[in-house]
Amino acid sequence: MEKKWWHSSVVYQIYPRSFMDSNGDGIGDLNGIISRLDYLKELGIDAIWLSPVFKSPNDDNGYDISDYKDIMDEFGTMKDMENLLAESNKRGIKIVMDLVPNHTSDEHMWFVEARKSKDNTYRDYYIWRDPVDGHEPNELGSNFSGSAWEYDETTGQYYMHLFSKKQPDLNWENEKVREEIYDIMNFWIDKGIGGFRMDVIELIGKKPDEMIIPNGPKLHDYLKEMNKKTFGDKDMLTVGECWCADPEIAKMYSNPDSHELSMVFQFEHIGLDQIPGKDKWDLRPLELTELKKVLNKWQMAFDGDGWNSLFWNNHDLPRIVSRWGNDKEYRVESAKMFATLLHGMKGTPYIYQGEELGMTNIRFDDINDYKDIETINMYNDRKSKGYAVDDIMKSIYTKGRDNARTPMQWDDSANGGFTTGTPWIKVNPNYKEINAQSQINDPDSIFNYYKKLISLRKENEVIVYGDFIPLLEDDKNIYAYERVLGDDRIRVVCNFTDKEVECDYADANGVELISNYKDYKDGILRPYEAFMVRL
Ligand code: GLC
Ligand code: CA
Repeated sequence: MEKKWWHSSVVYQIYPRSFMDSNGDGIGDLNGIISRLDYLKELGIDAIWLSPVFKSPNDDNGYDISDYKDIMDEFGTMKDMENLLAESNKRGIKIVMDLVPNHTSDEHMWFVEARKSKDNTYRDYYIWRDPVDGHEPNELGSNFSGSAWEYDETTGQYYMHLFSKKQPDLNWENEKVREEIYDIMNFWIDKGIGGFRMDVIELIGKKPDEMIIPNGPKLHDYLKEMNKKTFGDKDMLTVGECWCADPEIAKMYSNPDSHELSMVFQFEHIGLDQIPGKDKWDLRPLELTELKKVLNKWQMAFDGDGWNSLFWNNHDLPRIVSRWGNDKEYRVESAKMFATLLHGMKGTPYIYQGEELGMTNIRFDDINDYKDIETINMYNDRKSKGYAVDDIMKSIYTKGRDNARTPMQWDDSANGGFTTGTPWIKVNPNYKEINAQSQINDPDSIFNYYKKLISLRKENEVIVYGDFIPLLEDDKNIYAYERVLGDDRIRVVCNFTDKEVECDYADANGVELISNYKDYKDGILRPYEAFMVRL
């Protein structure tokens, strides 16, 4: 397999609104990011995935774009963006932009025009259907609750929106739409970016009349065309968000021979704590054996014909230490355990801002403190359907997207050092205890543990390219595996529980690469104990 820079890279995701505010308006911005680049350099990451910074009315915090070639006012100017690119490149950090090609804002010029009349030049940029018996054309639902169809008075037709009604879906069957998106991509490529993360890319080939939404028939044709007309001859990292990918589908995207993307984000492991067939708010406990089955399958799925991305967190997901770890007495141990488990695997690891500090979920008592449109719509929808408010809040505490979106905790000053003003969303009150400043110089901190894991990947080719060999597959408490490249063999052992468990591999029996305890205990793994050794 041809080696690529992104095979051995670690990517750090920034959610700009919550990362660092430079001017006291309570909203993170580009100059704020620039002021923290040295922190990221210190951590050792290679690339930043920057959640959308384009012009947007912020119905969905920037995932509703009204101008793809301009910067959101609150975040700064194009000059600031060019400055961010220059300052990052100076530090050897590439910027991966978040491309949202499935839908625009309803305030985008294309949609403003399109809705004016049925014969407008831009009408066919979007998906319009006549009413059926005075109703929505079909049963298709939006990911943010309610119907995916919104009636437009002016022309008497419905338009489709798989997310909020302020995010109308683009019509990818229209060649002009595709050319517009490629033009936008080339605009950003010319500015010197390092790649694209592609928002809900699996939806662009949809056939709404046949109720085929993800993985539509033309999806891969479009991606091959996109590759050819934009980044195909550049050395870029491209990663598609694919909620419905299985390994065979992931190969279609990421096999180097198919000339589509570098890799996809798959979410099979992410869905394991929801009731099958229901949605993400309907909870059930995670079984470790199931998690192993899923992740091990993905680890062994590719042999030069695809590539994995590795992640526990992003801006849509709850914090992993609260979700499947222990964010109380074992917060530090469990955060390090999750890091060890993931960073020993084969694929490109992604770190979501604050994960490297062990930041935790948030609980607001008042629904009005929540800002996320998905959360608010679900709250209203379930309330009107008669769900108990306590149950709704429990779902929000466990799964709500604002868990990941509270401001980055930089130090123990007011608002965690994120802003001198009033933050757009409340800071997690645990910032006095959990913050970057207290961790950077502490050799035992979660931050320094991540730093070490990143450098291990740089120094040990076996972590990048070694074969994956699962161990103890039926064990209900321990996640263990080996990686092998030629004569080099390393072993990763993790206790997934808050109890002591017996384990034949508990003695290091080799050269320690990293561990979250200071010593070893004969035949026993302590709560969340995790280590990586060279055999
Ligand atoms: C993706 C984004 C999410 C957004 C949605 C609509 O899932 O990660 O934040 O709300 O797409 O763009
Ligand atoms: Ca600001």
